[in-house]
Amino acid sequence: MHFLWKFGASVAVVFAVYIFYCLEVADRGRRELSHQKVKMGKFQYPTPRRDETVADNYHGQEVKDPYRWMEDPDGEETKAFVDAQNSISRPFINACPVKEQIQKRITEVWDYPKYGCPKKHGDHYYYFHNSGLQNQSVMYVQDSLDAEPRVFLDPNKLSDDGTVSLRGSAFTENGLTLAYGLSKSGSDWITVKFKKAPSGEDLPDVLEQVKFSSMAWTHDHTGFFYNSYPNQEGKVDGTETTSNLHQKLYFHRLGTEQTADVLVGEMPDFPKWMIGAEVSDCGRYLLLTPSEGCDPVNRLFYVDLESLEGGISGILPYVKIVDNFDAEYQYITNEGPVFTFKTNLKAPNYKLINIDLTKPEPENWKTLVEEDASAVLEWATCVNNDRLVLCYLRDVKNELYVYDLASGKQNYQFPLNVGSVAGFSGKKKGTEIFYQFLSFLTPGVIYHCDMSGRDYQPKVFREITVQGFDASLFETEQVFFKSTDGTKIPMFIVHKKGLKKDGNNPTLLYGYGGFSISITPSFSPSRVVFLQHLGGVYALANIRGGGEYGETWHKDGSLGNKQNCFNDFQSAAEYLVAQGYTSSKKLVINGGSNGGLLVGACLNQRPDLFAGGIAQVGVLDMLRFHKFTIGHAWITDYGSSDDPEQFKWLIKYSPLHNIPKGVEQYPALLLLTGDHDDRVVPLHSLKFIAELQSVVGSSDTQTNPVIIRVDTKSGHGFGKPTAKVIEEISDIYSFIYQTIGLEWSK
Ligand SMILES: *[C@@H]1O[C@H](CO)[C@@H](O)[C@H](O)[C@H]1NC(C)=O
Repeated sequence: MHFLWKFGASVAVVFAVYIFYCLEVADRGRRELSHQKVKMGKFQYPTPRRDETVADNYHGQEVKDPYRWMEDPDGEETKAFVDAQNSISRPFINACPVKEQIQKRITEVWDYPKYGCPKKHGDHYYYFHNSGLQNQSVMYVQDSLDAEPRVFLDPNKLSDDGTVSLRGSAFTENGLTLAYGLSKSGSDWITVKFKKAPSGEDLPDVLEQVKFSSMAWTHDHTGFFYNSYPNQEGKVDGTETTSNLHQKLYFHRLGTEQTADVLVGEMPDFPKWMIGAEVSDCGRYLLLTPSEGCDPVNRLFYVDLESLEGGISGILPYVKIVDNFDAEYQYITNEGPVFTFKTNLKAPNYKLINIDLTKPEPENWKTLVEEDASAVLEWATCVNNDRLVLCYLRDVKNELYVYDLASGKQNYQFPLNVGSVAGFSGKKKGTEIFYQFLSFLTPGVIYHCDMSGRDYQPKVFREITVQGFDASLFETEQVFFKSTDGTKIPMFIVHKKGLKKDGNNPTLLYGYGGFSISITPSFSPSRVVFLQHLGGVYALANIRGGGEYGETWHKDGSLGNKQNCFNDFQSAAEYLVAQGYTSSKKLVINGGSNGGLLVGACLNQRPDLFAGGIAQVGVLDMLRFHKFTIGHAWITDYGSSDDPEQFKWLIKYSPLHNIPKGVEQYPALLLLTGDHDDRVVPLHSLKFIAELQSVVGSSDTQTNPVIIRVDTKSGHGFGKPTAKVIEEISDIYSFIYQTIGLEWSK
């Protein structure tokens, strides 16, 4: 998942379901120790029980797993271990002499009004807004763009501490009903509820046990397709580790009990499949896009809803168009039986094709918009009936175009600065669009454009400003450095103007490198504090494994090529040192989820190159990740230890299994996880920190702390309340302050 801070839910609608379940951010308990002593002292770590008898035999090789017992999140011993760890990490972080200043200043900068793109449903406009420090953004409704906004849906009202968040929503075609998902404590499980619009009046319908779900209304507004795991037993609150298998597709009729819902799709022979569902723009067809993991590939089936005798009453008679996982087919729109899909079939940078349902054989498919050899087509959507808006990523910068739906000809490019299109709204039966631009130094500009004519004149609809933030004091560069195999890798570097390249600047290097997810420029209020007050340099390396250069880039950093991600990141670090931005004594690496794996692997491989690492909600046990919750979906990126050849890849870099012994100084490490993280379960972090502490804890030379912060009522990151996000970042900066030595300046 993305750890870069992004605002607004509108763009999520465009990026269909598959990203949804992928990986997308101490002292010794003696508070009386002085700051200096805490920093330099040798740490006394807890000594949890090692069970040397637990081992697995992987294709003839025995691998011990002495902390297997930590895989039970409810075990008393596990809970005691978590408490013991927090009782080391909390005092260490709190001992930072400027922690309060850091937190206060981040809170100040964060406190600016944030807005998402308005979107029209029925006769009304809806948009997300956060007044500044609200824990959750609020959905507002307006009768027209200049009418007085009213609160429509306020998740802050649903819990005292802001830990209930909105996860997914869908309006009916007429805009009179909203279905919305609510997640508790950051879990991937959601409860779906319903509201009348625009009044906001609650409806009694409730759907439970829903996860990684589609939300697709029939165009008669009477019912709704969604996904659920009805067979999952035991706890379903996000603290469990049970595998999510046998997802099913249901149809819910508004005004009925969930028990009356119709099972319309299941794949009993394929327990890992997830059944994406979407209703066509015309309302006649249901598209099914089963996928097996996180790779951008899916099968493509459809149902003609008009031809159903007896309505939606059981397993739907779907017609198969594509029955393999060779490529991705993402529905864009259709004109009668002629469908437009975005695909990577023989087009790693993606293209648009037409498939005519009356002659669906691949030899009759037509290319509508050719693949661009130097830019990735990120998304496309139909507006004003006859045209398409296409968003490309070229060298990690977005470009936005208008194309003709019938001919596939390009007819306009929107002017855009260097940065990202972070939000978009517009639809086929609408004549206007909104899009939101962001960059490292731009908190957000929302543009509005009338699409009914051919004379496009996008206007600034709303400019988001941050009080006391002067963008002219900073600069962003994009550089290209060479990785170990000579591949050119892009990297953004942001810092104060007039930076001295004397090798002395504290530098935070961020990366992700997986699941074809592109990490593009975005604004972060806390980063401003790091750059402005802590003398920091921020670098974002767009390493392989991501989608920055299409599927080729992704494949070059996955499966047997995963080491490329780590090489790229280490080369980024070497570049920053060689160019005088920083030194190995001042360089900290950061990543979350798959990026936590990146941090763990790089610290193990090059402990000499980094002063520290911050690994959030990381995947760290590469031999067993596929056994918990939705881990099996990541086999597409990592492979699996069940396979003899893939086991050989994984055992070479799995952070848990490659902690170097006998190094003089392992970098300072802060791991972060949350008790409700059911995307990457906390056991990864617990087992890794236990193993690492057992190795470095006995070293006489190790003074850098390696500690873990385990939060409660906290998940993988989605929907985290603002208060918790600010606390977490303040803790991270305090840790960095304490370990590599930062200075606070006004
Ligand atoms: C956000 O939640 C925290 C508790 O997590 C609470 O203390 C704080 O008052 C809330 N903030 C707002 C603006 O409601």
